[in-house]
Amino acid sequence: MAFSDLNDSVIAQVRQAADIVDFIAQVTPLKLAGKSYKGLCPFHREKTPSFTVDRGKGLFYCFGCGTGGDVFKFLTLTERFTFPEAVEHVASRVGIELPKKKRTPKESDKDDLLEVLDEASEAFHQALGWGDNPARRYLLERKVEEEIVKKYGFGYAPDSWDYILTRLARKHGEKKLEMAGLAMPRKTGNGYYDRFRNRLMIPIHNESGTVVGFGGRSLDGSDPKYLNSPESEVFNKSRLLYNLHRSKDAMRRMDRAILVEGYFDAIAIDHAGVPGVVASMGTSLTTGQASLLRRFTSHVVIAYDGDNAGRNATLRAAPVLLAAGLNVSALDLQGEKDPDSVVQKQGADRFLELLGNATDIFEFGLGEWAGDVAKLTGREKSERVEQFVPLLSAVSDPVVRNDAAQRIADAFRLEFQTVWSRVRSKASTAPDRQRQPFGPSASAEKTILIAAIQGKLTAAQLARLREEYFEEPGKTLFSIMKGDLMSGSPIDFQQVATHLRGEAELNLLSELSLSEDIDDQTLQRIDENLRPMERAYLERRNLEIQREIVEAERQGDSERTGQLYAEKMAVSRMLNEAK
Ligand code: UTP
Ligand code: MN
Repeated sequence: MAFSDLNDSVIAQVRQAADIVDFIAQVTPLKLAGKSYKGLCPFHREKTPSFTVDRGKGLFYCFGCGTGGDVFKFLTLTERFTFPEAVEHVASRVGIELPKKKRTPKESDKDDLLEVLDEASEAFHQALGWGDNPARRYLLERKVEEEIVKKYGFGYAPDSWDYILTRLARKHGEKKLEMAGLAMPRKTGNGYYDRFRNRLMIPIHNESGTVVGFGGRSLDGSDPKYLNSPESEVFNKSRLLYNLHRSKDAMRRMDRAILVEGYFDAIAIDHAGVPGVVASMGTSLTTGQASLLRRFTSHVVIAYDGDNAGRNATLRAAPVLLAAGLNVSALDLQGEKDPDSVVQKQGADRFLELLGNATDIFEFGLGEWAGDVAKLTGREKSERVEQFVPLLSAVSDPVVRNDAAQRIADAFRLEFQTVWSRVRSKASTAPDRQRQPFGPSASAEKTILIAAIQGKLTAAQLARLREEYFEEPGKTLFSIMKGDLMSGSPIDFQQVATHLRGEAELNLLSELSLSEDIDDQTLQRIDENLRPMERAYLERRNLEIQREIVEAERQGDSERTGQLYAEKMAVSRMLNEAK
């Protein structure tokens, strides 16, 4: 993606041309209320609308959850576009042609690989269609319908050393095929051979639906059972989830993902019409995969295999998911081998029933580790409790963590402190992710900026405002709008948005510009807000001057020293007046 060359003026042009109300109304119904539109926020659950959209300003803001921005920001959040993708999407919708970008060598390498992989996928798919072959027979035996073969793009890598090489090497070169993970250099040093031979080929896509690699299932019992594409520029297994491109929308909509181990598990569930399923593709779940999931959902149900290995894998994957800030539950397959066989043998409804009975991961862990507590020796109990430590320490919400620790203590008939002491030493001390961009005086700064934007400050009040009084991101906003504010011109918010570089600034701009009209009572207290800001600034400056004087004297810069002393006196005087 991102094939165009975006500069500020093009971005501004696209933003101006787009009707933000149009784009947002496709996601959440909007109603005109006064000057702006209101609706239920798509970013958090609410019953009364606090989500505001302003067509003229081209901005949205939710006064409930604090999410705000312009049309591009909205699309990056709802469609998961990158910023350039969002600009391209809007441009094409409003009919603006974007200037084409010259591709960097690295980007064109990557595009070449994707082209090779796409053609290989086509070639494997063709081979599967040729009469009787082991892959066909395998699918028949597994009762995989033709519809699935087509929908999921299955293919067959024939039992040959050069099926792919003969087809693709002339066009792309052997080196490219090697880079794409399709060919391997011969040990003897000259020539190449196909990596995938006599395997059922399952294409793996990235989140936008482009083939980036393959999982090849052995058809003759040879090891490994599944041979995956090697890591490459485009295939990074720790950041891929099988079936994500088909599931991501449903995951967001339902705020739930189903995580399975195997390709066939994902396919069976997905094809049965149960949305939001992805496979971790064997091996252990990575933090990369967990944060990928977190972009689309806040809740993951693990539906790994029902055997011991699967249940252990569940309890190993859970801390990784918890640490990414996800809520985690797990499914008990009630003796079935894996989700695929549940759907095959007992139908999708049975799987949905099991899904409905999924338990919180701590419940699941207690089922696994605290079955026969009365019979355990002290040492055994200690070992079992220790197994919960990774789970508990991965939870960052202290309320959830305490609650889980309490339940574990109860289950093992131990004191809360006994369990807790194990966790405390290892608990994550991650800072609160939801910290507000503004410090303690935030509301005073905001009130003043809102009043200024709404043209409600007196000339005298405006004259007192200085950039230095504000903390970021308010400082940047003020400096951009200062000219207009001082001259009393109306603010062109679309124009201001064009100059903003950071998310926090755009967010604040949305909040300030979409705030309700400031009431008289608040307005009368503006001076009370201004004074502490002034004072805080003067105190900061006073200390700075002190340091600068020491420095200037050390350097023997008498002119600078003189200036600083003069400023120091002025600041002291103002500080006295401000008290
Ligand atoms: P399983 O061994 O449970 O495979 O591994 P499965 O999906 O049940 O396979 P079938 O049904 O016998 O065909 C689960 C997943 O682990 C990965 C694959 O993604 C597989 O789907 N895996 C397994 C590998 O990558 N390599 C292997 O050698 C085995
Ligand atoms: Mn399996």
